[in-house]
This record gives sequence, C-alpha cells and structure tokens, in this order.
Amino acid sequence: MRAHEAGALHGDLGFSGPSWLRTPQDVNALVPQLWPRTVERTAGGEMAVGGVNIRKIAEQHGTPAYVLDEEDFRSRCRAFKEAFGGAEVFYAGKAFIATHIVRILVEEGLSLDVCTGGELAVALRGGMPPERIGLHGNNKSVAELTRAVEAGVGRIIVDSFDEIDRLTTIAKQTGTRPKVMVRVTVGVEAHTHEYIATAHEDQKFGFSLSGGAAAAAVDRIITEQALELRGLHSHIGSQIFDTSGFEVSARRLLQLQAAIHDKHGIELPELDLGGGFGIAYTTQDTPAEPRDLATDLMRIVKQECAALQLSVPHLSIEPGRAIVGPAMFTLYEVGTVKDVDGIRTYVSVDGGMSDNIRTALYDAAYSATLAGRASTEPPILARVVGKHCEAGDIIVKDEFLPADVRAGDLLAVPGTGAYCRSMASNYNHVPRPPVVAVVDGESRVIVRRETEDDLLKLDVG
Ligand code: LLP
Repeated sequence: MRAHEAGALHGDLGFSGPSWLRTPQDVNALVPQLWPRTVERTAGGEMAVGGVNIRKIAEQHGTPAYVLDEEDFRSRCRAFKEAFGGAEVFYAGKAFIATHIVRILVEEGLSLDVCTGGELAVALRGGMPPERIGLHGNNKSVAELTRAVEAGVGRIIVDSFDEIDRLTTIAKQTGTRPKVMVRVTVGVEAHTHEYIATAHEDQKFGFSLSGGAAAAAVDRIITEQALELRGLHSHIGSQIFDTSGFEVSARRLLQLQAAIHDKHGIELPELDLGGGFGIAYTTQDTPAEPRDLATDLMRIVKQECAALQLSVPHLSIEPGRAIVGPAMFTLYEVGTVKDVDGIRTYVSVDGGMSDNIRTALYDAAYSATLAGRASTEPPILARVVGKHCEAGDIIVKDEFLPADVRAGDLLAVPGTGAYCRSMASNYNHVPRPPVVAVVDGESRVIVRRETEDDLLKLDVG
C-alpha cells in the first residue's frame, strides 16, 4: 500500500476507488436512474436530450451549462401529483426556481414552497397564484411577511414566537387574517437510509415538540385569533430513501393534533410532512417511486388518525430534489487531463465548486459520463475537478471514465438539478452558468449565463 500525503484513508483507495463504485461493463452506458428520461446515446455515440445532440447544445449555448429536460421535469411533477391524489404537492423552490419553472408548475397543477422574499418574487413573477404559495423561513423579515400577506400567500409556516408577534402586528395593520401552519420540530432526523429519532432537536428550525414550544405556539395562535391556524408542519431531512422517518414524524404530529383537539375542540384541517425524498446520484442509489412513497405516507397518516380517533387532515408534501434533481445535468468541457502518480486521473473541466458546491460541502457523490462521443477504451479511475484555485474543488470524486478522455471532450454530470444552480456562487469571479431547457428538438435559455460585466456592475468602486 502506498503512503499518501493526505493520510492513510486516501492511500487506501488504491486503484479501485471507494467500495461502492463498480467498474462499468460498458463505459458509454447511460444508467437510466441517473439521467433525465429523454437522454440517449445516438448512433454516432454522442449524448442527446429532448431530441437535441449534446454537441449542438454546447455549440449554441457554450459550457458549462445546466441542461434541463423539460419533459422529464413535467413527468416528475405529474408522477407526484398523481401518486399523492388529493394531497397538495408544493414544489420546494429552494432546489431550483426560475419563472419558466413556475409556469410549468402552474400548468401541472402543483403549488410552490418558497423560503425567502427573493423566491417569493420569482414565484409571483412566474404567475403562481398566491393562494398556492407557502412561505417558509426561520427568520422572515417584516418586509417579507408584509409582502406575503399583501400578495395573499396561501399559507405562512410560522417558525418562532417572534414571527407570531410580527405576523400578528401585520395582520392587524392590514386588516387580514393570514393562514398559517406551525413548523414542528418532531425530533426525527433522516438522511438517506438512516433516521434518528430523538426526544429533542438541537437545530434552528421550528418549535420543539418535546419542549412544549409547539403546543404553546398553537395555544397562542388559537387563543389570539389574529391568525388562522390551518395545521401542523414538519420537514425531517434530505435525500431520504424510505418512509420510516416519516412514520415517526406523522405519529408525533398527530399526537399533538389529538392534544389540540382535546384542549380546544378543534381538528386542524391540514398536515404537511415536508420534503426530502431521495434521488440517485450514483449507480448504487435506488430511490423509491412517488407512488410507493404516496401509498406508504397515506397509509401511515390514515392508520395514526384511526388510532387517535381523528379525521384524516388534508395532506401536503414539499418535494424539491425528487422533482428537479434528476431532470437536469451539467455539461462541461474538459480542459486538462493529468495522471497523478498512477493513482488516478484528474480531469479538469471549465466549471467547478462555483456551479456545484455539494461535493465540497456535503461530500456528496456524483457520476459523470463522456457526452460528446463514445469510446472504445477501457475505463480508468478518474476524479472530475473544476478550475477554481482550491484543492477541494472537486465535482465528481470517483468515477470511471474512458482511458482516452482528453481536452476538448464534453463531460456530463447527472443529478444536478437540485441545489446546484440555486447554490451556485461567483467564487474566483467565475460567472454562473446558464440553464438551458430542452424539449421537442429545441433548446432555449431560461436563465442566461452571467457575464463578467454582470459581476463588474456590482463593483461600484
Ligand atoms: N420543505 C422544507 C421545509 C425544507 O426545508 C426543504 C429543504 C424541502 C421542503 C425540500 O427538500 P428536498 O425535497 O429538496 O430534499 N442544500 C441541501 C438541501 C437542503 C434542504 C433544505 N430544505 C442539499 O444540497 O442537499
């Protein structure tokens, strides 16, 4: 085993990469769960999406670029909407929002969760009916709350006693009675295959259930009458693969619902279980289908309601990643290729941590494929890195790419629809890439590429 300057763990990787990574049988294969539905390899070996060749997209729009398969995005909206039947599906705009996305959501009958004034502005500009918007946030400003109330936002998910004060004042000033939900911290934390259920939660969101803050918030809203309490809300985490965490969360929320009924004689009409449904980032991820999630969640809620002798509230959910994540990929051009000490090959592309911070921030795993051509060369262990002045500027930590990957090649990284453009930065003054929507043989920019001029305009000297 060779020593590695960054420590034994790095040395342990050797030639084969992490244990989950499989050497592909066919390095050109596009594994379906990773890619938007219309992606294919043409007879010539190039990737195509929505009937448009990837080379044409690169020529027309440049690289790096986020490419949205609009049909795929719509089909995921529909899958959630159909699977959850009568429940309301609030797309979580933090994953990725743009006015074109909002227009599609309106057409597909989804509602929209926003968590800042900025996201609210896009939602309204994109034509989302205000009554179908929910506003989140642990520190909403007076200006944000006022704007939401004046716009007639359908529900505000209150997150603190300070916010209840602010909203009560705004309600009185505007002569309105805003509809609210109470964000409850249920003591469940879920990530991928595991969840932890604890008695208390040490985090900034919501009102603690175990500490009694949630019940106190509910009491106050019901007693003061300035706000219309629609129901309880919880969001337990991200990239969740099964429903066991939701089961604990729903049970705890409904116990509170029962206690509210006993104390106030009121059955709150709505219940929101949040988002967090996982997607595939690598060939080893096998996310649940919306219809299976729906069957499970609805069964859990019905069962708990029956046990507590409550009527079943109107259910809502807030998926972001599961709708937009797999619908987009990032297209890069390779600039340099370096074999480092025979350990692995570093493939540098023209973007990096400024367009995908998730690898550096969460140690997230991604995949990549050669997109502009097919190759007959064997796979080699590669690391896809960006152009930033930072050693941690890694986009795909471990992936097999064909041995002849070279400068000028196009490389595509799937699963970048959620929390990539929305978390993009201008680190090193790198302008943020555009979002190009592709459908029915046409590609169109829906968010344009940032320019150096855009950045220089902010610098007022
Ligand atoms: N609802 C609420 C109240 C949330 O806080 C979130 C995500 C969602 C819904 C949507 O969750 P999704 O279905 O997209 O997982 N930046 C991180 C994720 C942070 C998520 C924050 N809240 C990432 O890149 O993984």
